[in-house]
Amino acid sequence: MSDTKVDIKQLDEIIAQCGGKKANLIAILQKIQEIYRYVPEDAMIYIGTKIEGLSPATVFGVATFYAQFSLEPKGKYEIKLCDGTACHVRGSIPVLNAIRAKVGLTGEQVTTGNGLFTVETVSCLGACGLAPVVVINEKVYPQMTSDAISMILDEIIKGEN
Ligand code: FES
Repeated sequence: MSDTKVDIKQLDEIIAQCGGKKANLIAILQKIQEIYRYVPEDAMIYIGTKIEGLSPATVFGVATFYAQFSLEPKGKYEIKLCDGTACHVRGSIPVLNAIRAKVGLTGEQVTTGNGLFTVETVSCLGACGLAPVVVINEKVYPQMTSDAISMILDEIIKGEN
């Protein structure tokens, strides 16, 4: 079981809003992810037992199959750094290192212990002319440098303190 406490009443509402059918499983998982920023294990178990024709194993299988679903809690700020060819050539790795150092990530960690930041690399975002590109919660930051991203993150961190 995951640590996140899921709200059963809210899950029932989501299931009802989405028609309560097995065929609507993707829409149900999307709504759950919107609320929790990931799909908690307890929510998958609940909808797998609640909706006719599903099982927790089926729900888990679907959620793991689609890359859009995260099964781990994400930080409040999801930072995506493009490491496609154009971004890589124009220095995405030093930018990544600066981001990880600034938010305090080490080793294999992708989410900070305080739940504020998740840092991931992604492949080409289709904005190669703006390389290297960083996206923070859907906002695009073009032509990033280590210094520029450090200043942006300083502002975010200051706003959180
Ligand atoms: S390689 Fe980064 S946007 Fe295309």
